[in-house]
Amino acid sequence: MPQTRIAGIGYYVPSNVVTNNDLLKYMDTSDEWIQERTGIKERRYAHRTDETTTTMGVEAAKIAIERAGITKDDVDFIIFATISPDYYFPGCGVLLQRAMKIKEIGALDVRNQCSGFVYALSIADQFIKTGMYKNILLVASEKHSFGLDFSTRGRNVSVIFGDGAGAVVLQPTEKENQGILSTHLHSDGESAEILAMFNPGTHGNHWVPEPVADFADAPIGEMFMSHEMIDKAQNFPNMDGPAVFKKAIVKFPEVIVEALEKNNLKASDLHLLIPHQANLRIAQYVQQKLQLTDSQVYNNIERYGNTTAASIPIALCEAWEQGKVKEGDLVCLAAFGSGFTWGSALLRW
Ligand code: UT7
Repeated sequence: MPQTRIAGIGYYVPSNVVTNNDLLKYMDTSDEWIQERTGIKERRYAHRTDETTTTMGVEAAKIAIERAGITKDDVDFIIFATISPDYYFPGCGVLLQRAMKIKEIGALDVRNQCSGFVYALSIADQFIKTGMYKNILLVASEKHSFGLDFSTRGRNVSVIFGDGAGAVVLQPTEKENQGILSTHLHSDGESAEILAMFNPGTHGNHWVPEPVADFADAPIGEMFMSHEMIDKAQNFPNMDGPAVFKKAIVKFPEVIVEALEKNNLKASDLHLLIPHQANLRIAQYVQQKLQLTDSQVYNNIERYGNTTAASIPIALCEAWEQGKVKEGDLVCLAAFGSGFTWGSALLRW
């Protein structure tokens, strides 16, 4: 059976740099607080009208396709991971297909939040291994700046997130000991509401911690997204940051060790760990726990913030461009986020 290798990789971030101090215009925060608690110095925000989650994905995809030495016409399946899609439906997969004028192949949308790229990579891996597809284009892109609460009320969430896109082309390889060695996926829906965006949604008042609107009197069409929800700013993401943090620092090391043990490897064998860029303090904790050196972990959250599904491919691409990932290197990708969902992928470059 062939293994799956990353044949091409690319990323795109908007040119608009937003520093921590720029956020002071909107909310009561400080550069010091943000850097100390998250490690973030700046992030990118997409152009309001000219850039979307899909268009950023297209830019990243073009680079990945070129680096894979193929053309868009060779792509035989598209997977698009995002939680900030252009439309509620259809997903960005078909929008990217249209924008890139790719033929009538399948397009799948994955919405697994911060774990979206790892989940999508695992799906692609199954398709490649079984021989179903030969050139899968996997894109992860987020335009968070469009849907955050920029008032002081939303500061614990809004200062963290940034926009950007990453993409890979996945192909089969017959080379021994090359490509994806294993992927490991997990979830725990018990804590779904700890990091969630409830609206628009069909929940009524069922799962949400507190009723979000008086649906009894709501006009039938307004139950999905009512004026009341907007008035109360209930159309933005909610997060209990400390609760997410506590779970993340347990699950990150656990799922990395799971991948290493599955392949009879040790943390010291890793050339590079690319953790999802959620918070520099989380990444540093994981590094310490696994006793990894600075050169074994790649972080770029200080420049981009948390770009959810896109964070791993952006970081992986940067690391590769800087010569930090070379043929034969053992690379671990690991993510944890809303759901909770988490996962890892171990690969030999
Ligand atoms: O990628 C998806 C997964 N997400 C994560 O992994 C996020 C995990 N959690 C975190 O990264 C951290 O919990 C945060 C960075 C979100 C928050 O840091 P924290 O150290 O846990 O702070 P906190 O939420 O406990 O808040 C501490 C204080 C509060 O004030 P009081 O109640 O102590 O007076 C907050 O109101 O900091 C305040 N605060 C802020 N102050 C200035 C919250 N956000 C801000 C802000 N600027 N942006």
